[in-house]
Amino acid sequence: MRIILSKSTEEAVDAVTTIILDKLASRPSMVLGLATGRTMEPVYAEWVSKVRANPIKMDKAFFFMLDEYLGIDENHPSSFKSYIKDRLIHPLNLAESQFAFPPIHLGGEYYERLIKEAGGIDLQLLGIGVNGHIGFNEPGSSVKSRTREVELTPETMEANKSHFGAGKMPSKALSMGIGSILEGKELLMLATGKSKATAIKYLLNHHDDESCPATFLKSHPHFTLVLDPDAACRISLNI
Ligand code: F6R
Repeated sequence: MRIILSKSTEEAVDAVTTIILDKLASRPSMVLGLATGRTMEPVYAEWVSKVRANPIKMDKAFFFMLDEYLGIDENHPSSFKSYIKDRLIHPLNLAESQFAFPPIHLGGEYYERLIKEAGGIDLQLLGIGVNGHIGFNEPGSSVKSRTREVELTPETMEANKSHFGAGKMPSKALSMGIGSILEGKELLMLATGKSKATAIKYLLNHHDDESCPATFLKSHPHFTLVLDPDAACRISLNI
């Protein structure tokens, strides 16, 4: 596991964006797994501005989204499909056909097959929930879990309900499983803000612990964790 401790949120976002774009530049046909959420908003904004300033070819790349809410239309403004259309696909004029979305009507096995057919995910981008979830693999999820329908915990619903305004927050999602995520050749997690500090401290002090699914990532040979000072504020490093 490699940890990058950044001096600011901007520096953390820059580190993540640089890793992604360097890889894309050297391997234009790479397969990327993408996360959504507030943490990733500045990553996509910087990705767009860097590519506009220094164009790189992205038309051969392919993208798998990590998860999607169930119970809302895929074109709902708060769906993860709309999120990535607004932040990456439209600003960079990418083709929607370069993206695969968890197929809310077809189920997880179909998605797993698509990932396999694409040769697997080269680089998987990940955030972390306040409860240590990855994707929407909530505490209690098995390390062997595959893409499937999941129930969101009250904590996750609380953290995400503001995206739905007065509308009803979905309580279910389709999420790549922990087993599916661990098959990514490289994993890149970004955590920013004080609300993630407890989960990050737990992650660093525990291994293979179902109560904090992110701990499973530590067994991956190519896992990079990028932290801003707030997310890192509860850890102490004995150097
Ligand atoms: C999003 C995802 C989630 C988020 C996590 C953190 O695709 O899979 O695991 O990364 O819930 O969300 P934010 O960044 O909104 O705090």
